[in-house]
Parts: sequence; structure tokens; C-alpha cells
Amino acid sequence: MVNGALVIRHWGAPISGEISQISLATQNSIANSSWDEPQNPGFMRESARGFLGRPTLSGHRNGLAWSTKFEVTDFHHVENKCAVTLRDFHAELEINVTFELDKFGVLILSASVKNIGERDYSLNEFIHWLPLPQEASETLDFVGKWSNERQPQRRKIQTGTWVRETREGRSGHNFSIADIALTPQTSFQSGQAWATSIAWSGNSHYLVERIFDGSQSIGAGEILLPGEVILKANEIYEAPQLFAVYSSAGLDGISTAFHSHIRSRDVHPKRPRPLTLNMWEALYFDHDEVKIKELVDVAAYVGVERVVLDDGWFHSRRNDRSGLGDWVIDPVVWPNGLAPIIEYINGKGIEFGLWFEGEMVNPDSDLYRAHPEWILHEGDRTPPLWRHQLVLDLAHEGAFNHVLEQSSAILSTHNIAYIKWDHNRVLVDAGHLGKAGVRRQTQAIYKLFAELKRRHPGLEIESCASGGARIDLGVLDLVDRFWTSDNNDALERQTIQRWTSQVIPPELLGTHIGPTLGHQTGRTIELSMRATTALFGHAGIEWNITQATEEEKLHLKSWAAYYNANRALLHSGQSIRIDYPDEHGYLYGVLSQDAKKAIYAYVQLTPTVVINPAPLKFVGLNPSATYSIKAVFPAGAPRFMLIAPPEWIKGIEISGSALMTIGVTAPILAPANALLLELTQI
Ligand code: DGJ
Repeated sequence: MVNGALVIRHWGAPISGEISQISLATQNSIANSSWDEPQNPGFMRESARGFLGRPTLSGHRNGLAWSTKFEVTDFHHVENKCAVTLRDFHAELEINVTFELDKFGVLILSASVKNIGERDYSLNEFIHWLPLPQEASETLDFVGKWSNERQPQRRKIQTGTWVRETREGRSGHNFSIADIALTPQTSFQSGQAWATSIAWSGNSHYLVERIFDGSQSIGAGEILLPGEVILKANEIYEAPQLFAVYSSAGLDGISTAFHSHIRSRDVHPKRPRPLTLNMWEALYFDHDEVKIKELVDVAAYVGVERVVLDDGWFHSRRNDRSGLGDWVIDPVVWPNGLAPIIEYINGKGIEFGLWFEGEMVNPDSDLYRAHPEWILHEGDRTPPLWRHQLVLDLAHEGAFNHVLEQSSAILSTHNIAYIKWDHNRVLVDAGHLGKAGVRRQTQAIYKLFAELKRRHPGLEIESCASGGARIDLGVLDLVDRFWTSDNNDALERQTIQRWTSQVIPPELLGTHIGPTLGHQTGRTIELSMRATTALFGHAGIEWNITQATEEEKLHLKSWAAYYNANRALLHSGQSIRIDYPDEHGYLYGVLSQDAKKAIYAYVQLTPTVVINPAPLKFVGLNPSATYSIKAVFPAGAPRFMLIAPPEWIKGIEISGSALMTIGVTAPILAPANALLLELTQI
């Protein structure tokens, strides 16, 4: 605290020492053409305290209370948690902020803004900010579109503000799952990194700001649309939480902290993640009980544990032009309802899952015909259609109850273990009774998921949004799985999964074996590559396996058995991305927490330009222990571009130190092939 301001002196590696000395050590000098006294703008970044960048809080009371000067009035510090109250009695506002550092190094920032005056306070913005040292001279964030989510972009931090916004009313394909500051040297395995991830599924922004005095900071918060938050007397705005991690062990240090934190939650799925067959790419809208039974028969043979009926089961939904909003079983395609097919599936020892897209409505639906006023809209305008659909205003009690009761009725009357909840369009012009409605909509879907889970204990929910457009820490506690991407092309999935797992652990990421000829890219990829790619997540199949050859079915069966036998490790170990020096390949894997077993994939993305690519070197092993290392082929061998692959792939025993420092020869694979490796301490 300096002159009543809350000041964050440092975010980074742990330090010890007297706080007063640290304050002295870090106090600015007085520059030419500047303040008469050093200023300490602190956490609230206020103009009244001499701050010249973007403030933490912005708002006003009908033009008044536009500038604040908060004073710390309460400060509690217990172990790794610090709770601070700041008040500005002139602006009549109170901020409560907590900083909690968990045992894995995840710093959780929570904040609320309370109106302690009588007149309304219009809140424009509240941003969580953390200071960045100047050696953090680059940022890494993620961009994307449908079928190509979470592609990294890395750039130099320069004076000014770098802003990544999402204004889709869902986190979106282009949402940056994390905003990371780092040094030019930082890689997966080494170097410093400062990461933030905003826990919100609505509109949000990340900012990296460097101002002319050389100070720089990283922040994130909700984007509030005009008038979206107007606090009446005593009303409180709860800002979305920010999760922040500092790592001195590279980007994998960041992911290890996030994964450990996420796994430690009470709501983290405890059951082994069931091998899933999602029927979307097998059927699309062609729902036919006979065909589905044939598919289920093959699924049972293979060892599938959960079968999901995707889009198309409900009233008039024969294509994507109608039906959304009418969550009743379609009597034309399902004359006997869903109960018989569920019984059939359950009879094979397989769970049943069902698709919903409850936030949406087609104009061609009974719901829309009855309640056209229940869509998010402004004035007498109808927002432009997207996939022939509009968005239901879930902050409207009638609409909320309609979706809740119809979906809940299906769940109450059928044995449904899991629902895949989709969200296939963006929110634009999204008004609720004449006011901006994105925040309310985001809160409403959280409430709806919570209520469905309360009513149906044990129900698992998958967050899907045209693939991976709602993967964020805001919805995390309410769901059990994310659909990572609609792109099931295993080569594209390599990068999408690699970066989604920067924050989300693999057991929460749906990773399916797609069809031989990829539906998104039109590319044909070996089954062994598709199977290896799908292994590093919550595995499944998205393919009409009645069309698989007998050999492919056998491979699927042995792959399913492999997944079954190894998922405990794959879903609890440390995810590792090796800094593999050859740009044509990826080397990554999962190491058990006791370092006794690891499963790795070596993936040939593109053709090598050398005969002997960089050896495969591993990390995290016990240097003095001996390991066996061998290639395994649960779904058939990859295609080698060699007369003879290296001998070791049949299995050798070698020390952990050798595996980490010398490694083993990398075989040349044909592009878009993967070699699965097992390392076991003996
Ligand atoms: C988009 C999803 O990502 C797909 O998996 C599928 O469920 C379709 N929607 C159905 O419309």
C-alpha cells in the first residue's frame, strides 16, 4: 500500500524480503518534465494518481463520478490469499478484490464493484491488470476460425496497446484461450512466461499495454456493451475471474499449472473418460433406426462405451433449416421415440448421449411461430440469420423455462448420461427488452447448465460451439468435456490440440478418429495417424464405422483396448511438448507423475529435408533409472519412408539420462504419419 493505493510491485518468480525495502528498491526516479513526487498509481491505475494508461475501472453516474481515487480500507492476508477492499467515498464506489495463489502456481483474481451511493452508476469496464517486467518482450495469443481454432501468433510488445477482443457473445473460434507474455527465448520447455486466461464465455478482451514510461502490463476483462451494467444503490458487479500463471519453465510450465489446478477441482470428472462414438459425421441428418443399430453393433464390437445421437432427432429437424427450439422427439423419424434405441444401446453396455442447441431457434419452428419476441433483438429489427437460426433470449424467463423444461423432460424420461450442447452462431444486435443482452445471456446459460446438473445428478455436459468456439475457463466448472474442433483431420488436429491443451488438460478435450477421407479437408489420412492423434484426449470416433474394412475394425478394437488400458496415465500425467528442433515434426507426450511411464507421439507433419532428422530426446525422466523404449502399434503401423526403420523401435533398454541427452534416432515417416512410443521404467 502506498498513500492509500494498492500497488502490485511484482508478478513473477517468488522473492523474499522486507516489503518496505522492496518498495524502496522499485520506486521510480523523478524524470525530467514529470511529476514533482514519484507517483504510485497502483492496482486501480487512476488518473487521479498520475496514471496515463488505461484505467482498471471506467464508468460514471450520468457524467459524474467519472474519475476515482480509491483508498484501501481493508486488507486481509492469510497464507496465499489476500483480500482487499478499496473505497472511494466521493465517487461512492467500493471494490473488493482477492488474489489467491494455489499450490500449483495459479493466481486467481476475483473482483467486484459495488455502488455504495444512491444514484445509478454506469459501469463501462473493469479490467484485471498485472504488471509485466520488461524482459517480457513478446506476446503469444491465439486466433482461429471454424475448423481451425487456436492457432498461435507471437509478436513483439511495442509501445501502445495490443488488444484481442471477442464480441461474438460466445468465447468464439477466434477467442484467445490464454494471453501469454514471454521472452524471445521462451520455448515449451524453458524460459519465462506470464499467462492469463479470462474465465468468461461472453464478450471479453485481453490487453497488453506498454506506455511511454516503459512500464507494461497484461490485463483482461469482460467487454460490457453500452448500458449493460448500470448498478443501482447497493448493487454489485462481479467481474469474471482471471487465472494467471507465471512460469520459469516455459510454456509447459504454464500448462502444467493450469492442468493441475483444473484437475484439483471437486467437479473435475472422476470416472474414466468413456470411449465415445459421436454419430454426426456418420449420419448427419439421416436418422434411421436400422442404420443406427448397425453402427452401434460395430461400436460395441470395437469397444465403444458411449454413443451420441447428434443433431436431427427433434421435431421437424430434417436439415439445418428448421426445428431448433422444439426439443421434442420427432415422431416422423422416431415413431417409437428414442427409448427403444437407447435400450438397444444400453443393452450392449454402452451409455447414450444426446445433442441439444438450446440457445437457438429456427424461424421455421413451432417455438418461433408462437414466440417471435423471445429472440435476442433490438427494436423491430431481426438480426441477420446464421445457419438459418436466431438466438433465443435466455434472460427472458419464458424462453429460459421453455428450454429448461423441454430439455429436462427428455432427460427425466430417458437414460441419458451425457448431453452435447452446441452453439452454432454468433450473437449480434443482441438486445434484451431494449437493452444490450450479451452479459445476461452468458449468465443465463451458466444458470441453465447448473440447473440441468442439479436436476439430473451425474449428467455430463459437453460444451460445443461449431466445434471449439466455447472453450474457456468461465464455463469450465459447469461442463465435463469440450468439443475441441469440428476439424477431425488428424494433421490439422495436431496443432489445434497442441494449443488448446495450453490451458485445458487432455481428458476434457474431445478427440475423435475421423473418417478415412476427412470431411473438412478432403484429405485421406492413415488410420494409425488418426488413432494416435485421437489418443491424446478424451478419445472417440466420428466415422461411419460400418464402412470400415475388417482390418480397420480390428485396429479400432485394439486401439480402443489400448485407450482403455492407458487412459489413467493419459488423463493424469504431465503433458509435455518437446522443443523438437526439426520443424517438420512434433514430439509430445504424457509422463506419469512418478516419471515411471510415458506415452509419446512422434508426428511427421511434412516431409523432412534431411536423412537423419533430430534425435528424439525426452524430458522429465529419472536420469539414473533404466527405461524400456519401444514403438507400439495399437491401430497399425505408420508409413515409414525408409528401407528399414531404426532397430530401437522394436524395444531397447536404456538409461533415463541417455534418453534425455542423446535420445533415439528419429525414423523418417511419410508426411501425416505418427509413431506411438512407450517408455517404461524397469
Ligand atoms: C456443430 C458441431 O460442432 C458438430 O459436431 C455437430 O454437432 C453439428 N454442429 C450439428 O449441427
